[in-house]
Amino acid sequence: MRKLIIAIDGPSGVGKGTVARAIAAELGYRHVDSGAMYRAVGWKALQLGVRLDQEDTLSGLATDSTIEISATLVAIDGTDITRAIRTPEIDKAAAAVARLPNVRAILVGRQRRLGLDGGIVMEGRDIGTVVFPQADLKLYLDASVEERARRRASDSAHSGPVALAEVATALKARDQSDSTRAASPLYAAADAVVIDTTGTPVADVVAQVMALVKTLLIAE
Ligand code: C5P
Repeated sequence: MRKLIIAIDGPSGVGKGTVARAIAAELGYRHVDSGAMYRAVGWKALQLGVRLDQEDTLSGLATDSTIEISATLVAIDGTDITRAIRTPEIDKAAAAVARLPNVRAILVGRQRRLGLDGGIVMEGRDIGTVVFPQADLKLYLDASVEERARRRASDSAHSGPVALAEVATALKARDQSDSTRAASPLYAAADAVVIDTTGTPVADVVAQVMALVKTLLIAE
């Protein structure tokens, strides 16, 4: 059976990771969190004291770094940063480096290579629009900002404020940066299936997506 490329995009805190992980596990595919790559570059920039608008330095840094992403680990140059990249500071640093076209070009190239043989569920902001415009299935997950703030505040992998109003303000700022930037802004591809997950249990979203996947595989 052909191994599909499944692209999942959507705003921060919508639950892309949870859905992508579940779909990948059901299909025996690889799950790739592309945001972790932007976070890794943002983390290293802060460690080295590189300003987040220094495009040449940051793209050199991205080129020279080895970024490892597995189901349980994110590492850069061999350093485990799995937990260190889930902080409000790195939320901002990742969104800043993600605005830079030359940094994006390097990371998009790596993301495409990961998908060469199919059998991948990749989540991010531009997966269906830029990374894999030929993806077999494109999903765009959305949810109200209040619901996304609740999900983010209860995510134990992510540190930061627990006051919902504060989480919501930070999410809105990142959404604004991600959807208004010139380079690969966040939007739903014309051929994406848009799912509003507000009020929907994650198991139901996964079931909806699996139904779409099965229809595709049966049609082969
Ligand atoms: O998905 P996550 O919140 O971990 O992504 C961190 C940041 O990386 C996002 O706010 C966004 O600016 C950037 N990003 C991106 N393109 C992707 C994935 C993430 O620009 N495909």
